[in-house]
Amino acid sequence: MDFTGQTALVTGASTGIGAEFARELAARGADLIMVARREDKLQALAAELARDHDARVDVVAVDLGRPGAGAELAARVDALGRQVDVLVNNAGFATHGDVTDADLPRLLEEVQLNCATVVDLTARFLPAMTARRSGVIINVASVAGFLPVPHMAVYGATKAFVLSFTEALWAETRPTGVTVRALCPGATDTPFFDVVGAEEAAVGKRRTPEQVVATALGGLRRSGPAVIDGRRNTLVSLMARYLPTRIVIGIAERSVRARNRDHTRSAGAASSR
Ligand SMILES: NC(=O)c1ccc[n+]([C@@H]2O[C@H](COP(=O)([O-])OP(=O)(O)OC[C@H]3O[C@@H](n4cnc5c(N)ncnc54)[C@H](OP(=O)(O)O)[C@@H]3O)[C@@H](O)[C@H]2O)c1
Repeated sequence: MDFTGQTALVTGASTGIGAEFARELAARGADLIMVARREDKLQALAAELARDHDARVDVVAVDLGRPGAGAELAARVDALGRQVDVLVNNAGFATHGDVTDADLPRLLEEVQLNCATVVDLTARFLPAMTARRSGVIINVASVAGFLPVPHMAVYGATKAFVLSFTEALWAETRPTGVTVRALCPGATDTPFFDVVGAEEAAVGKRRTPEQVVATALGGLRRSGPAVIDGRRNTLVSLMARYLPTRIVIGIAERSVRARNRDHTRSAGAASSR
């Protein structure tokens, strides 16, 4: 797909999958608005992309994990005089551990960033796309959105939210000329797991951000609402859909359980549901 003359806003563009979206969209002709908290990382990548692809690249450093961040970002985009043709809602993080032991403000920040900000930015930029009868929105969910994930309960739920929200939005926008997709990666080789702080969160062989973004952009040419990266992750999503929920929860529980955990307690919790 060619994005020449279009402006793509990518959240979480400082590292990982978001940085790869920025690289690939610039290579396909897009101008960029790159958003994250770490301005130094954004500026370094912006300079590289502006040089290599002759793209206009603007950087907006903002914490999207706070209520009100969507309004702030939209105002800064307006101040730059830019219109958003492609929106990639990619910024997100995960927590690992049981809810009873959790740092509550961190869980609420996870819900805010992974869910509320996705809705906020979508609702702010979609009406202009609808009026122009063109535009693309890619919301980054996860294969974890297909199943409940004990020990990562909030993360799994946020990604189920993104998946459900985006699939419904896909149907709403079908007659409008706007293309909407949920992207569902599985374990991907990015700094994501350093932020989680638990290697157990990475299930299976990690794919590369390049593979994930190629899958996402390829998915824009196909017709369905969700794009799953990799054959193994497609199998996981099918398993989650067709096996009894109790069995699926048990498999998920064993997959991400902390290695030093009391196994009898976890197994009992999973099988009692
Ligand atoms: N890696 C995986 O295995 C995997 C699997 C499935 C789905 N995903 C999803 O893919 C997306 C990208 O993750 P990744 O793997 O690329 O991880 P990553 O390398 O840790 O990237 C996360 C990005 O989000 C930004 N971010 C985090 N908190 C933010 C905040 N409060 N405000 C603004 N930006 C914030 C980070 O930038 P700053 O720190 O500079 O703000 C960074 O650019 C996430 O939604 C994640 O849930 C990842």
